Amino acid sequence: MPTIGLIGAGHIGSQVARLAIAQGYNVVLSNSRGPETLSPLIAELGPKARAATPSEAAQAADIAVVTVPLKHYRQVPVEPLAGKVVIDTNNYYPQRDWNIAELDNESTTTAELLQAHLPTSKVVKGFNHIYAAQLTTDGKPPGTPNRRALVIAGDDAAAKAAVTKLLDQFGFDTVDAGPLKEGWRIQRDTPGYGPRRNADELRKDLAAAKRYRDMK
Ligand SMILES: NC(=O)c1ccc[n+]([C@@H]2O[C@H](COP(=O)([O-])OP(=O)(O)OC[C@H]3O[C@@H](n4cnc5c(N)ncnc54)[C@H](OP(=O)(O)O)[C@@H]3O)[C@@H](O)[C@H]2O)c1
Repeated sequence: MPTIGLIGAGHIGSQVARLAIAQGYNVVLSNSRGPETLSPLIAELGPKARAATPSEAAQAADIAVVTVPLKHYRQVPVEPLAGKVVIDTNNYYPQRDWNIAELDNESTTTAELLQAHLPTSKVVKGFNHIYAAQLTTDGKPPGTPNRRALVIAGDDAAAKAAVTKLLDQFGFDTVDAGPLKEGWRIQRDTPGYGPRRNADELRKDLAAAKRYRDMK
């Protein structure tokens, strides 16, 4: 089975790992404090999971997930993620992430920042608008009426198809918001950010989203 490599093993990273293990994937998790600090989580996840450094997790990944506080995105290893699909879960909270001028002036978006840092990776925005705990409670089999949907955005069609397949395995429909630059439509303070939505509802939320500059 393919390997999901996680850069970040907190609320979201640990939940994505649980979903991946449940679907038979191998999982390599990493954090900032070192692999030994992940022993309890690895024990819970079982033999298909292991802990490693961020570079090792990136190297092992067939699909990587970057899920660290945004202020640390420049520490994400670049070379071992070259050419790979990288799911970016990150959101911008200035009180946590310090002010990032390009986001404050809305000249870029969070996932575009990660894409600029990882120039040859195929970054797909994903998992950013669902509470971590709901990742393991809200998933339903394909075809379930009113199934919850999650937004993706990205510039590479094949990468988006791979993430759509993964989300389907994890229990969620997918709504494609378009290229990475459209990812702001599901950023903090937009209608779709947080609540449970099916695909039709989420498409309406994306269409209704406003940039901060247009909210004033
Ligand atoms: N929590 C949610 O419900 C939720 C929902 C959607 C999206 N998000 C977004 O997803 C991102 C992660 O959120 P979270 O709640 O999972 O955060 P979190 O619980 O604080 O976990 C962050 C993880 O990143 C690791 N980390 C920090 N710096 C790192 C580095 N330089 N290299 C490798 N790993 C590093 C941390 O490791 P250490 O503990 O060892 O420092 C920790 O494992 C954020 O941008 C957040 O806004 C969160």
